[in-house]
Amino acid sequence: SADSCTTAALIAAHAGQAGALLPLLHAIQDKLGFIAPGSVGDIAQALNLSRAEVHGVITYYPHFRTVAPARHTLEVCRAESCQALGGDALAAHVQQRLGCDFHGADASGAVGLEAVYCLGLCAQSPAVAIDGVAHARMTPARMDRLLDPLLA
Ligand code: FES
Repeated sequence: SADSCTTAALIAAHAGQAGALLPLLHAIQDKLGFIAPGSVGDIAQALNLSRAEVHGVITYYPHFRTVAPARHTLEVCRAESCQALGGDALAAHVQQRLGCDFHGADASGAVGLEAVYCLGLCAQSPAVAIDGVAHARMTPARMDRLLDPLLA
């Protein structure tokens, strides 16, 4: 696949270099959005490391993902003002709707759910952002109308 070609090219560019593991992992994730578990063996071999060492570094840093990111990102504000004005119920609603917890995604990989701590819209709480676009005074019903086309 194109992804494995990209990974192979990046591995080749870093092979045999001391201290190349972190730069290589960052390069792969920057390019593909995640580090496929299937590439751990190739990375280990190219850098003369064990699979366990590579796996250990990937899992140590929360920044590194091992599954493809969702196509869209829904960020729900979990900071104080939004929590006080319906944010908890809204969070529970989207978790149920997407069938996942924060840092997860719906089963089809369409919408990933993340927490965010203040979107600067406290006067119009509760607030969310979809793919970086903020939406204020959110209700479960409005949330559903925004999510429907993304999940269709
Ligand atoms: Fe949610 Fe500020 S607390 S936007």
